[in-house]
Amino acid sequence: MTTLLVTGGAGFIGSNFVRHVVAHTDFDVIVLDKLTYAGNLASLDGLPDARVRFVRGDIADAALVNELTRELDPDTDAIVHYAAESHNDNSLSDPRPFLDTNVIGTYTLIEAARRRGIRFHHISTDEVYGDLELDDPERFTEATAYNPSSPYSSTKAASDMLVRAWTRSFGLRATISNCSNNYGPYQHVEKFIPRQITNVLRGERPKVYGTGANVRDWIHADDHSAAVLAILAGGRIGETYLIGADGERSNLDVVGDILAALGRPRDDFELVSDRPGHDLRYAIDSTKLRDELGWRPRYSDFSSGLRATVDWYRSHEGWWGPQKQATEAKYSELGR
Ligand code: NAD
Ligand code: DAU
Repeated sequence: MTTLLVTGGAGFIGSNFVRHVVAHTDFDVIVLDKLTYAGNLASLDGLPDARVRFVRGDIADAALVNELTRELDPDTDAIVHYAAESHNDNSLSDPRPFLDTNVIGTYTLIEAARRRGIRFHHISTDEVYGDLELDDPERFTEATAYNPSSPYSSTKAASDMLVRAWTRSFGLRATISNCSNNYGPYQHVEKFIPRQITNVLRGERPKVYGTGANVRDWIHADDHSAAVLAILAGGRIGETYLIGADGERSNLDVVGDILAALGRPRDDFELVSDRPGHDLRYAIDSTKLRDELGWRPRYSDFSSGLRATVDWYRSHEGWWGPQKQATEAKYSELGR
């Protein structure tokens, strides 16, 4: 029997992973989550108590992390590390929590993992590579040089470097994955797609930064979870795997699709002031993951995945409604 300690398991992608593990494996899960503004226990509703245990706590709390890792068996179990401060706009307003959680929190976990010899998988982002020009024929690969732009992405880059150094210097049995932009149910309404869907549902116009020409490479969170399971099962220790589903879309295209799915004209949005340092384009080449581990995205049609996501927000106002007002208050202070 395998137990996974999943940090950040009450967040968007972490909770998807926990549901995915319960549905597709016989593993048990311990979720360690601080329940910041971004964590929501309701995202784990309905999971069996016999297989999923929730612990509220901070990944930077070494005593707690050591206590939990003592429960793990180095022969079978693993830590899967999702917990992070994850939103670029917040990192521009107040970077400090990003250093505490993304850097010191990761350090605390890998120290505990290496002392106990526990397998470690680190969840990271394509943003560590900086951005690409719109017409650049190259995409990010595992060999692309790190060049992060924001406080968020620089702390994620720092955390990747810590994991790499602990692997080389201390023999930590770790893998890293860098994934592109995720979408799907249970994503916080601060993020682009849920913000715009819920704006329309509340009778507000979507707010697009700058010109809207920026491109993101969208992947359904379920495909991300399947890739992480594949890496846990067959990934080579010390290796990095890029995760992406060939889902490049401009922000203008995405917002047009959201408006169309909700029966509104595609141009019924506002252009607002740009995010400082706003990365222009991300694009992932996931050949290594596909060739080595046989992973393929199931949600290869972004438009239908997006329509299903719109339907989920339409029918789950009870989940997102309580977050919406505070989130929009933060944005209106920024003029966005
Ligand atoms: P999220 O903000 O939705 O969730 C983060 C979770 O971590 C929350 O439940 C929060 O309570 C918890 N958390 C924060 N600080 C903590 C701490 N100190 N101790 C314990 N728990 C803490 O984030 P997300 O979008 O689900 O992202 C999860 C991971 O995936 C992050 O590491 C992020 O960098 C990475 N990632 C995200 C995307 C994306 O598109 N959202 C893409 C690639 C990689
Ligand atoms: O690429 C992976 C990253 O994707 C993850 O590491 C981050 O955790 C995740 O937040 C996401 O970062 P982005 O900055 O790309 O995501 P966000 O949803 O904030 O914005 C997506 C795009 O939409 C970006 O170009 C900014 C733009 N945007 C965002 C918001 C919130 C708007 O135009 N209007 C908005 O209201």
